[in-house]
Amino acid sequence: MTTASPDGLLTLPSEFWDPDTAPFFDDEKQTWNVFNYEDVMRVLTDKDMFSQAYGDPDVHPNFAVMWCADDPRHKDLRTIASEPFRQSVLRELTPTIEAVLNDLIDEILAAGTDSFEMTSQLSYRLPNRVICHIMGVDMADDVRFAAWLKEAFSAATISGMPPQPDMVRYFSDLLEERRKNPQNGLVDELIAAQRSGYQVAGEPLSDRDLIGYLWGLLSAGTDTTSASIGNMFLFLTEYGNLDEVRDDRALVNSAVEETLRWYPAFPSNPAVALADVSFGDCTVSAGQTVTAWMSAANRDPSRFEDPNVFDIRRNPNRHLTFGWGSRHCLGAPLARLELRIALEVVRDRLPGLRWDKEKPFTRTLGIVNHIDEAHLVFDRASAGNR
Ligand code: HEM
Repeated sequence: MTTASPDGLLTLPSEFWDPDTAPFFDDEKQTWNVFNYEDVMRVLTDKDMFSQAYGDPDVHPNFAVMWCADDPRHKDLRTIASEPFRQSVLRELTPTIEAVLNDLIDEILAAGTDSFEMTSQLSYRLPNRVICHIMGVDMADDVRFAAWLKEAFSAATISGMPPQPDMVRYFSDLLEERRKNPQNGLVDELIAAQRSGYQVAGEPLSDRDLIGYLWGLLSAGTDTTSASIGNMFLFLTEYGNLDEVRDDRALVNSAVEETLRWYPAFPSNPAVALADVSFGDCTVSAGQTVTAWMSAANRDPSRFEDPNVFDIRRNPNRHLTFGWGSRHCLGAPLARLELRIALEVVRDRLPGLRWDKEKPFTRTLGIVNHIDEAHLVFDRASAGNR
């Protein structure tokens, strides 16, 4: 077990990790901020009091994303495909995820050194390539996806991300192509729903909705998972837990959960108050934005024993990193699987893994907290083949 207070690994200002931070209004961002578990849970789950339709609809003129909509639109957009990451789909994805990781490690080993840059050589490429596979497109398109995502995230604000004309065209062409040459995957399931007359809030399912669905998976699933994989290797190597998770699947799973609790890659979530609402002594007026900080709620001592201890055996671990309730992260089972497999494959093939602090370490703090650059070293002499 490791006792650690917010330190160099965490980088967000300390109030955003502290459930005792009193609610406050941020003039610059024009939002209230709430921090303890109960308040955060309330914002995430009380649909009568909080709306997610906070985005500026003109920000996305060409597509609609589910998380910027309320019911019935939200529910209809979320359920176009029948649970895209149900257990049977994940079972089929497992060998692909392992193969992608093994390819990436082969590339690292082929470079002939005993170190690698984690984000560009491993953690960013894995989720991007997995999304390519899920959409049934060439894995080499991960490079294009990465460029669009970078552009989108760098221009993102609290009300949304800017349109990406090339990306919209790409997904539009993909739908067209798959209508002519069907396969048997998620994109085909979306097209089949449209053909069967599926309705979104009483309107026929449009290409705009389908493009939004695909963009949603890409933008919600790549940066978050990449950051979480990176966090996992930094925390487990820095806090000395990597050897403990050898040969114990249950411990691997709880180490993944603790990584997610410890540093939510998507640390906060905004909503709009539908009526006046109080948090402690503060009153939020109807129409104002409230940002719920999962990063702080995950350290609330009323829910987590010794919350500032990084404990890979923590159980239960009801963290809010994937949100909660009807908006709970659609890709959570996939993200968990990617983290678990990444941990097992890297642990087995790159022994002696540790963080090289002599080399640069940079994070970008934004809607998603990225790791831009972090270097890991391993024992080359005992590095394993597949
Ligand atoms: C560790 C990685 C991830 C984290 C930390 C994360 C976090 C979250 C959170 C907090 C929400 C809820 C936002 C809200 O309450 O409005 C969410 C929603 C969502 N996530 Fe994830 N996510 C991750 C990975 C993924 C992956 C891999 C995918 C898909 C490939 C994905 C797709 C989605 C979608 C589509 C939603 C919207 C759900 C809805 O509005 O009903 N996420 N995610």
